[in-house]
Amino acid sequence: PAGSDRLLHSGEAAAADAGSITLYLLLSALGALIPAFHFGFQISLFNIPGKTIQAAIGPSVSQELFDLTTSLLPVGGMIGALFLAPWLVNLVGRRAFLLFSSPLFMLGGGLMMVCWWITDSSPAASLSVLVIGRFLCGVGVGGASVVSPMYVSEISPVRFRGAFGSMVQFGVTAGILVVQAIGVALRDQWVWIFAISVGLGVLQALLALVIARSPAFVATRGSRADAVGIVQALHNVSRAEADMVVDGLSSGAAADGEPAPSVWALVRSPVYRFPLLVCVLLQVAQQVSGINAVFFFSAGFFKSAGVDDVTGSLVAAGVNIVATALAVAVVECLGRRALLLASTAGMMFFAAALTVALVMLQSAGTDEGLAIFSIVCVAFYVLFFELGLGPIPWMIGAEIFPERPRATAMSVAAAANWIFTFVVAQSFPAMQKALTAYSFVPFAGCLAALLIFFVLFLPETKDRLPEDVLAGMGIDVRQDPDLVADESLIKRPAFDDVAAASPA
Ligand code: GLC
Repeated sequence: PAGSDRLLHSGEAAAADAGSITLYLLLSALGALIPAFHFGFQISLFNIPGKTIQAAIGPSVSQELFDLTTSLLPVGGMIGALFLAPWLVNLVGRRAFLLFSSPLFMLGGGLMMVCWWITDSSPAASLSVLVIGRFLCGVGVGGASVVSPMYVSEISPVRFRGAFGSMVQFGVTAGILVVQAIGVALRDQWVWIFAISVGLGVLQALLALVIARSPAFVATRGSRADAVGIVQALHNVSRAEADMVVDGLSSGAAADGEPAPSVWALVRSPVYRFPLLVCVLLQVAQQVSGINAVFFFSAGFFKSAGVDDVTGSLVAAGVNIVATALAVAVVECLGRRALLLASTAGMMFFAAALTVALVMLQSAGTDEGLAIFSIVCVAFYVLFFELGLGPIPWMIGAEIFPERPRATAMSVAAAANWIFTFVVAQSFPAMQKALTAYSFVPFAGCLAALLIFFVLFLPETKDRLPEDVLAGMGIDVRQDPDLVADESLIKRPAFDDVAAASPA
C-alpha cells in the first residue's frame, strides 16, 4: 500500500533505525564488494603487464590495436550500466543480478586466458579473444558499478549507509592496488592474472547464493512481510523497528507493482529531471577531474621525475586506497555535500599547483625539489579525489531517488561516468602532447565550473530519505505518479485510482 499518507520522514526513519552491523550484513556487503574489487582489478589490469602481453602477441599487432583492449573496458562498462543493469535489476532483483552477471567474468576472464596459449600459433586470434574477453568483463563491471552501490545502500542501516556506500569505492581502490602488485609478481606468467578474474567471477556467484535479498526490492516488488524479515536479520532489530525501516525503504514508491520508468520518462519528468542532472554531473565531475589521467598515464610522469614507474604506480594506488579508507571513516560525520565540495575544490587546487610545478620543471630542466613537489601534488590530488568525488557519485543516486526510478537513474549516471572515462582515456595523450606542462589545466577548469554548480545545487543526503532530499530541492515526490505528463508513455492507472484502490 502506498500513497501520501504512507510517507515517512527522515527523522523518524533514522530514529527507528537502531540497526547494528551484523555478520549477515557484512557478508552481504562483501557479496557486492567482490564485483567492485573486480572493477578496480580490470581498470588497472594492463598497467604493469601490458607491455609484456603486447610483446607476447607479437609485432603483427599495432599499438593502436592493442590499445583497443584498454578502451573496450569503458565501452563495455557503458553498455553494462545503461542496458544490462536497469533491465536485469528491476526484473530479477539485486541479488539475482549479482548471480546472473557473474558468468560474464568467468567467460571474459576465460577468453583472456586462452590468449596466453595461442599467442604463438595465431597472434591475430589471440588478440581477438583478449579483446572480446575484455569487453565482456567491461559489461560485467559496468553493471556492477550500478548494482553494487545500490544494493549496499539498500541493505545497510541509514546511519551507516554512507560508510558502507564508500566501502564500494574502497573495493575498487583495493582492486587497483592488488592487480598492480600481482602484475609485478606475475608479469611473466600473466595467464594467472586472468585466472584470478575467473576466480573472482566464481566467488561472486557463490556469495550471491548466500547473501540477503535487497529489502527495498522485496518490499516494493514482492512481499512486505519478507522484507521486514530480511531487515530483522540484517540489522538485528525488532519486528516493529524493521517495519519502520521497510517503510523508509519503500517510501516514495507510488504503488506496488508499477513498472520502473524508462530513461526517456525520467528525462521528461518534471519531478526527476533535475535530480538526474545532479547525479549525472557528479559522475561527469568524477571523470573530468582527470583522475584517470593519473591512473592510466602516470608512468611516464613518474619516470621524468626520476621515480621508478612501478614504484610510482604503487604509491599512487597506495595513497588512493588509504584516502578511501579515510572517506569511509568520515563520511558519516561530515556528510556528503561538504566532502564533495572539499574534494572538488581540493582537486582543483592541486591540479593548479601541479601545473605550476610542471611549468617550472619544464623551464628548469631537471630539478629534484620540483620533481618531488609535483609528486606530492599528485598524491594530494588523488587524496582529495577519494575523499568525495571517488566514492560519493557512485552511491548518491540511491540516496536521492526512491526505489522505483532508482535503477534507471543510477544507470544513466553510471553510463555518463563510463562515457567520460572513455573520452578522457582517448583524449589525454593528445592533450598532453598539445598542452605539455599545461595538460591539467582543462581538468582544473571543468572542476571550477562544476564547483559553482555543486555549491548552488548539491543537496545533503546523509541520514535522509529520498523524499526529504527531494523536498529540500523543492520537489514534491508525491507528484511521482505524474512522472510522465503523457500518460500513453507509461501503462498504469492514474495516482488517484491507485490510492483509492489500495487500502492504506
Ligand atoms: C573511481 C572511478 C575510476 C577510477 C577510480 C580510482 O571508481 O570511477 O574511474 O579509476 O575511482 O580509484
